[in-house]
Amino acid sequence: MDLFDSIVESEQRDVQLAPGAMLLAGFARPLEAALIEAVAAIIARAPFRHLVTPGGHRMSVAMTNCGRVGWVSDRTGYRYDTNDPDSGLPWPSMPETFADLALRAADGAGFADFRPDACLINRYEPGAKLSLHQDKDELDFNAPIVSVSLGLPATFLFGGLNRNDKTTRYRLAHGDVVVWGGSARLAYHGVMPLADGEHPLLGNQRINLTFRKTR
Ligand code: SIN
Ligand code: FE2
Repeated sequence: MDLFDSIVESEQRDVQLAPGAMLLAGFARPLEAALIEAVAAIIARAPFRHLVTPGGHRMSVAMTNCGRVGWVSDRTGYRYDTNDPDSGLPWPSMPETFADLALRAADGAGFADFRPDACLINRYEPGAKLSLHQDKDELDFNAPIVSVSLGLPATFLFGGLNRNDKTTRYRLAHGDVVVWGGSARLAYHGVMPLADGEHPLLGNQRINLTFRKTR
């Protein structure tokens, strides 16, 4: 094995972020073509859009959804909605490949029988970021969060249960999956501004799929 191989390998090891939180390196990589194709079909029906926060700020990350419900934000607050507010139509259904990947990743991190009913799809272009937050708009905190990274690498921040807890930075590369649940379910997390780059399959962007069980 040459030096290059050993560097790649050391970056691809699974890491525990906290009790209940795992980075599964490259877990989604074998499905990259199917995932990218499915995202293309979803955005043809429910295009990416920049949501506005209740405080009136336009988010730098563009979003869409698939599944029974989708996460939306507007001046009135955050919520899960069965319909796309832009088209009035139900969100595209969750592809089998998505649901199966989320189930297997959760299982790999120790959370059996994860059946998400929502998949938020985030698109980061260079400079886009997500401030430190908790995922707490769901009714069921027993189910974990499963987050799949595609395209350009990002720096993920993972902290504790209080906003001011120390955060650790992790590099999330194409195909990496992060699962957090149990005592880490309400951990603060965020994404640093995306660096410019060119990914062979997705170009100048990062796509993230976040699976949740909302009820
Ligand atoms: C999220 O917290 O909803 C997205 C996290 C990510 O893009 O990795
Ligand atoms: Fe989140």
